[in-house]
Amino acid sequence: MDTKVIKSKFPIFKNKINGKQLTYLDNANSSQKPQSVIDRISKFYSNEFSNIGRSVHSLGVTATNRFEETRDLIKNFINAKSREEIIFTKNATEAINLVAFTYGEKFINKGDEILITELEHHANYVPWHFIRKRKGAIIKFAECNEKGEVDIDKIKELISNKTKMIAITHLSNVTGAIMPVKKIVDLASEKKIPVLIDGCQGAPHLKIDMQELGCDFYAISCHKMYGPTGVGILYAKKKWLDVLPPYQGGGGMIEDVKKNNITFPRSPTKYEAGTLQTAEVVGFSESIKFIKDVGIKNIMSHEKEILEYGLEKIKKNNSVKIIGDPKNRGSIISFTIKGIHPHDIATILDEDGVAIRAGHHCCQILHEKLGIPASARASFGIYNSKEDIDVLSDSIKKCNKVFNT
Ligand code: ALA
Repeated sequence: MDTKVIKSKFPIFKNKINGKQLTYLDNANSSQKPQSVIDRISKFYSNEFSNIGRSVHSLGVTATNRFEETRDLIKNFINAKSREEIIFTKNATEAINLVAFTYGEKFINKGDEILITELEHHANYVPWHFIRKRKGAIIKFAECNEKGEVDIDKIKELISNKTKMIAITHLSNVTGAIMPVKKIVDLASEKKIPVLIDGCQGAPHLKIDMQELGCDFYAISCHKMYGPTGVGILYAKKKWLDVLPPYQGGGGMIEDVKKNNITFPRSPTKYEAGTLQTAEVVGFSESIKFIKDVGIKNIMSHEKEILEYGLEKIKKNNSVKIIGDPKNRGSIISFTIKGIHPHDIATILDEDGVAIRAGHHCCQILHEKLGIPASARASFGIYNSKEDIDVLSDSIKKCNKVFNT
């Protein structure tokens, strides 16, 4: 893959950061946007904009069509069975909240158990905490081992006849561990337990196929997939769509409104209340096209190569401790350097134009388990090259010099 060509499609890389070429390694947090996505949003607002699903005038119909075409594109991209299974939300967090609220409201009662893992970021813990509080449910955490992965046996051990939901990450945003999601879904479906997969880090970097995977829910974050902010996707298996209640109430999600009764349409309309993020959804169609043009297999093999090169190079620096060593790892390297706070690492790297994230990465449970308050994290994407890793490695050496470590 020619990363120079790929990078040239992202205008952000034309800018200098602190007088230096940008080395963007914060992709697990959010990715940069190709020109095609930016142009699509601009074209939509310039020529096609109207609110959707309401007006019969030409612009209303055009805008609705563009929006719904994106739904079809996503349905095909993730191989969902039907377009009704694709629900637009404002982000992956809202997608998970939607499931926790609607499923939790209907099916979770006092003493019921929700099984998550110690790897989850806050978006896949806090919504379940609300259900725990409201319904008196119990949250069980499958333990993460010293390699930064969760063994399926740990999940098996915790399943009981009270388990009402298994909610797990596809790919850890700290250790990079790729979870055996298919095996977990198979195990859960034998016991008739629904599975929600938090695909924030999975969808941008792995091939995802809903029919093959068989999960009940899959949450996607579009801004991590070279797409606009303000768009998330909830894939929900058809069997849940008529069973679960609506999430938010308002315009657009009703069928018939009377003073003493309100009825609701079917999914996805039922779950999409109010004016939606129209331009952003339409813009996201270009992200999907971009990913498809590069090819998810090419993305996976390129990121694997960059990850391996990065691990090899960073391991040579004895002051750096890499977090986790999972067998199956996505393109994420979190690390600490003895004697330097991760925020100081990120600040020094920034002077060289290197953007990494430092902190707990919305994973306080995992950092507590690791016995550290924070870590530094380099996460790679489609445009990163071996040269980016070299810049990162040199910049880390600069940290060593500044802090004498
Ligand atoms: N979960 C996001 C990250 O890893 C916010 O940075």
